[in-house]
Formats: sequence, C-alpha cells, structure tokens
Amino acid sequence: MNHLQSSFTLPCGAILKNRLAKAPMTERMSNSAYEPTPEHEHLYTLWSQTGAGLLITGNVMIDRDHMESAGNVFLGDVAMIPKLKKWTAAGTIHGNHLWAQISHSGRQTNRFVNPHPKAPSAVKLNKLFLFGTPKAMREVDIQEVISGFRLASKIAKVSGFTGIQIHAAHGYLLSQFLSPRTNHRTDHWGGSLENRSRLLMRIVHECREEVGAAFPISVKLNSSDFQRGGFTEADSLEVVKKLSDAGIDLIEISGGTYEKATFFLGDEEKVKKESTKKREAYFLDFAKQVRQISQVPLMITGGFRSFDFSNEVLANRECDLIGMGRPFISNIDSIQRFLAGEVKYLYSPPIRTGFKAFEDAAEAGFYARQLIKLAEGKGLQKNLNPIACSMFIVKHEFTKAKEKNNIKISSI
Ligand SMILES: Cc1cc2nc3c(=O)[nH]c(=O)nc-3n(C[C@H](O)[C@H](O)[C@H](O)COP(=O)(O)O)c2cc1C
Repeated sequence: MNHLQSSFTLPCGAILKNRLAKAPMTERMSNSAYEPTPEHEHLYTLWSQTGAGLLITGNVMIDRDHMESAGNVFLGDVAMIPKLKKWTAAGTIHGNHLWAQISHSGRQTNRFVNPHPKAPSAVKLNKLFLFGTPKAMREVDIQEVISGFRLASKIAKVSGFTGIQIHAAHGYLLSQFLSPRTNHRTDHWGGSLENRSRLLMRIVHECREEVGAAFPISVKLNSSDFQRGGFTEADSLEVVKKLSDAGIDLIEISGGTYEKATFFLGDEEKVKKESTKKREAYFLDFAKQVRQISQVPLMITGGFRSFDFSNEVLANRECDLIGMGRPFISNIDSIQRFLAGEVKYLYSPPIRTGFKAFEDAAEAGFYARQLIKLAEGKGLQKNLNPIACSMFIVKHEFTKAKEKNNIKISSI
C-alpha cells in the first residue's frame, strides 16, 4: 500500500490530501518593502504542482529588525495583505495546504540586517564574523514578541494561508529562549525549563486564541541543540508534553542551530556508527520517544530520500508526515512520481568544499541559489562551485540589506 498518498486529518479538523510535506526553506527574495514578489508566486505554483499535501513557507518574520534574511517576508503589516493573497493563491492552486512559518531570528540576525539584535541574553553567536553582540531583551521587548506572533497569525489567516507554523527550532529566538546556552535570564523567562518554555507556550496560546479552534497550528521543535549545555532531548520531550496539552495540530521535529547545523548534515558522530537505512532520517530515533508520550501528529524532517523507507516509516506509524526540504529543489520534477511510488529515490547532492568551517555555508548556499533560480524561472543550474556557494549567502545578504537601506556599514 502507498501510505504516502493517504490523506490525514489534523486535530483541528483540517484535512491534508497526503503525507508529504515540503519543509520550510527560506526564500530570500522579498522586495525592498519586505513583501512577497512574483518570484514567490512562481516558486509556490511549482511546488503546489508537485502534489505534496502540505507546503510550509520559509521563515516569515514578525519584526523588520530581526529578519533571518534581509530577503524574508515581513508579516506584520496589514497593507501587505493583497500581495500576500497573490502568494497564497499561487501556493494552493492544487488543493494543498500552505502554512506560514512565523519566526523571529533573535541573535541569529546577521549584522547586515541588524548589528545589535535582541535576544534572551547577551550571548553572541560566533560564526564567520557575521553576527553582532545581542542585547538582552527587556520585559517590554518580550511583550512585543508575543503581540508580534499574534498579529502575524492573524495576517496569515486573513491572507489565505491555511495554517501557521511557529518556529521554535534551529536556534532562532524561541529556540534561544528554550536553550540554557543562550538563555541566562534570572526572571520568569529563564532558568527552569518551565520558565524557558514560557514564551513559546504563551505564543501558542495567543495564536490559538487569535485564529480559532479550526485553524492548523504547528510548532517546529529541536530534538536537541546537539551542543554541550544546550537544549536536550529530555527538555524537548517535556516541551512536547506541554505542546500536546496546549492543543496544537502538528509538531515538526528537527535539530541543531547555526552553530551546529545538524538539520542539514545530521548528527555526524551518530551517522558514522549507523546503518544506511537509519542514516536516511536523522531524527527518527527521537521521534520514537515522542510517540511514546504524545498523541500529537508528528512530522519528521531531515534526510528522507527513498520512497520505500518513507512508506515503511508511515506504515509503522513512526510519524504521520514525511518532511522534505532539499529534494523539493534538486528533484522538483520527480516529486509527483515519487508520491506515486514510480520514482524510488530522490538524490540531492551533498555540497562539500573540503573545509569543515564552510561545509554548512556551501550546502545552504547551493540550495539557496538553486531555489532563487527556480523562482526566476531559470531552472536548476548544473555544476555550481562549492566554494562560490559557500560565499553566496553572505554576498546575497549584503546586497539585499543594502537594497532595503538597512545596512549599518559603520559596525561591520
Ligand atoms: C535552502 C534551505 C533553506 C532552509 N530554510 C529553512 C527555514 O526557513 N526554516 C526552517 O525551519 N528550516 C529551514 N531549512 C531546513 C529544512 O527545513 C530542513 O530541516 C533541512 O533541509 C533538512 O531536510 P532535508 O534533508 O529534507 O533537506 C532550510 C533548508 C534549506 C536547504
């Protein structure tokens, strides 16, 4: 039986036509007013045509000063609704769901966008000199974050997104609050896990109140940060329990941060020891633990490539949705036949420079470039140089930030 093709009903009552989800991938191509563009519309039409039941956007941001990329879309201005509606119409053309991944980048805001971002605590991210020292948020800043997520959920619903995902993974703001490495606060937003998870839980509550019981709300959560002193698997399981009690519709499991890009590369230590089959989905072992403590629908993202394995995982009820990122770029023309079981394997090439410090930048840069080419209607480019790819994002961010008059040259 082809389990990938079976429909799935979420707790809120919404129905996904199948079990394949395009995982969030940042688009980096908003216009100078942070609005979606015709390129967004073209790209999401292509993705809708793949037949996947669920498309989740890349990061869309609640704060113009805390964009994960200078090319993100801002979701805090009602004047943008007409343009957002064009994007959502294009992205739902084949009867799939389209959810907005709502986010705030905190200390992971690059210095072209903001050299002094706000974060839970003043803990700097050291990565290729691209990030400034953050300022610890005051109570008023935290309250603004809460109202920003709430407003974004409202704008998403009015604009035609059929659901939202709250981004609490990969080292962005909510993930920074969850992690003791980046949250050193001594007030009721830091310290115990109860306190570190307070912001996420408050945002889930506010968004649910805003969008109502019948609208899908998902949370993307790290299984762990994969760093000493960070958010652990035990912490993550506790947060899963809280999210289950809060009545969300889907948890997407991933892992890692900018400092340890496990979401791209897998847990390298573990991968070395394991079978090829297990290597395919890096977070599957953790998902099994989640299944034991929670009934909330589960999506796992990271490494799925073969039809048989994806189908088997669904048949075993190890998760409910298969999340895939890179294959929706490098194998975009094969996704439809993959869903039908006619294409058995989606090969997405690993991009390696041979220099450890640049591998994740090369991987991210390669796929970012390809995604933009697809959106521009130019198709995939063959033989991109890995070193050039590793520098692509820095160049692109510089140009995009400058276009928005956002660049603070003095502090670079
Ligand atoms: C170009 C690119 C951009 C990404 N942007 C985001 C993002 O905006 N939000 C997010 O949660 N994950 C993002 N990711 C991570 C993916 O959602 C996914 O977790 C990761 O690619 C692993 O899945 P895969 O092995 O199927 O590619 C991005 C990945 C790529 C390749």
